[in-house]
Amino acid sequence: MSYFTLILGYNKFSIVYFGFNLKKYNMSKRTIVSMPGDGIGKAVLDEAIRVLDAAGFEAEYVEGDIGWEFWKKEGNPLPQRTIDLIEKHKIALFGAITSKPKDEAFEELDDKLKDQNLIYSSPIVGLRQHFGLEICARPCKAYAGNPLNFVRRGADGSIEEPAVDVVIFRQNTEGLYGGVEWSNPNDQIYDAFMTHPKFKKNFGNANKDEISISTRIFSKERTENILRAAFEHAKEFGYKSVTLCEKPNVIRETSGMMYKMALEIQKNDFPEIELWNTNIDAQMMWLTKNPEDYGVIVAGNMFGDIVSDGFAGLIGGLGFACSAQWSKNGVGVFEPTHGSAPKYADYETSIVNPIAMIESACMMLDFIDEKEKAKKIRNAVAEVIKEGKVRTYDMLKMRGKPDVITKGAASTKEMADAIIAKL
Ligand code: NAI
Ligand code: MG
Repeated sequence: MSYFTLILGYNKFSIVYFGFNLKKYNMSKRTIVSMPGDGIGKAVLDEAIRVLDAAGFEAEYVEGDIGWEFWKKEGNPLPQRTIDLIEKHKIALFGAITSKPKDEAFEELDDKLKDQNLIYSSPIVGLRQHFGLEICARPCKAYAGNPLNFVRRGADGSIEEPAVDVVIFRQNTEGLYGGVEWSNPNDQIYDAFMTHPKFKKNFGNANKDEISISTRIFSKERTENILRAAFEHAKEFGYKSVTLCEKPNVIRETSGMMYKMALEIQKNDFPEIELWNTNIDAQMMWLTKNPEDYGVIVAGNMFGDIVSDGFAGLIGGLGFACSAQWSKNGVGVFEPTHGSAPKYADYETSIVNPIAMIESACMMLDFIDEKEKAKKIRNAVAEVIKEGKVRTYDMLKMRGKPDVITKGAASTKEMADAIIAKL
C-alpha cells in the first residue's frame, strides 16, 4: 500500500488511529476547520469554499482563529481553541498569515500584554510542529494556456514551452526550521560545541555573545517517511524518477544520511523508479534548463522550500502554487504557498488570484477520498485558463493596483465565478 493511498484511504487509517466510526463519518457532512488568517487569506479562502460548494462537496466549516490579529489581541497567533478544533476535526483549510520581525511584533502587541515576555513565533510553523505535519507535497504542474508558463529558446531559436509536471515532497518539521537555535549560547551549549574540532577551529576565537547557531537536525524516522512518501507518490502516479535534492557532498551528515537512505529504499522497494541525486544549487540552475525532465523531487525542509518556490515560478508563481501537509495519523492542513500580501488586503474589490487556494482545496479533497470532485474542479480550472477570457491581474502581467479591474483583469470573485460556471 502506498503512502498516498494510505492517506487517501484516510478512513481506514483513521479507524486504526482514532477509532472513528467509518459509517457515520462517511454519511454525515464533514466538518472542515477553515482558517482564513490575515490579509488576502480570507478573500481566497472564501472563494475556494464557494467552489467546493459548487462542486457538490457537502461540508460544514468551523472557523479557526489564527494570525496577526490574535497575536496583537491575545499575545498568541495560534490560540489553543484553534488547536482543539483541528484536533477534533482533523482537516483544515488555511489561507495565509502575516508574520513580522520580533521588534515590530512586540510593538504591535496590546499594551496590557507587553510585560508578559511574549515572543512572537509563526503559527503555521507552530501548527506543523504541534500536529507533526511532516509530509508536505507541493505540486507544480503547468496549465496549458497560462500566459505565465515558463518558456525557453530551443536550439533552432524557436520558443518552447516545457510541460512542467513536478511534485515536491518537502520534509516539513525538522532540519533548519526545527527551531533548535541560539544566539549567545549558554556555557553548557557553548562548551558542548567546543568539543567539536571544526567548531573549535572555525569559531573558537569568536566571543560567545557574537555567535548565533541554527541547527539542521534530521531524524532517521522522519527522513524515511518523507522519502517513502515521495517514492510511493512516484509509483502511484507514474513518475519515472525521484530526485533527491540536497547537498550530500558538503552537508555530509544530514544530506548524506538522506542520500544513503534514499539509495536503500530505492534499491529494496522501488527498483522500477530511478533515483536521481542533485545538489540544491545546481538544481536551481537546471530547473530552467530542463524542468520537464523532473518528476518527483524530495528534500529536507529548507531546500524543499527553496526548490518548490523555484518550480512554482515556472508555472505561474504564487497565484498557482498549492500545498498539502499531513501527519502520519491523518491530520491534514491545505494551504497556498503564498502569504497574506498585505498591500492587497484592503482593496475594496479583491484582485488576487484564488487558484492556488482552490488547488489546495482540491488536494484536501484527494486526501479525504473525494477524488472525483477534485478532478472536476481541476478540469474547470484548466478550462478557464485555456480559454483565457477570465484572467486575474497576475495572469495579465499587470502591477497589482486597484485599477486593474477597470483595465480588464478579473477580480478574485470573478475568477471563482468563471471556475464555478465550468463545473
Ligand atoms: P506574499 O506571498 O504575501 O506576497 C508576495 C507578492 O506575491 C504579493 O505582493 C503579490 O504581488 C504576489 N501574490 C501573493 N499571492 C498572490 C495571489 N494569490 N495572487 C496574485 N498575486 C499574489 O509574500 P510577502 O509579501 O513576502 O509576505 C507578506 C506576509 O505574508 C508576510 O507577513 C509574510 O511573513 C507572510 N507569509 C505567510 C505565509 C503563510 O501564511 N504560509 C507564507 C509566506 C509569507
Ligand atoms: Mg516559501
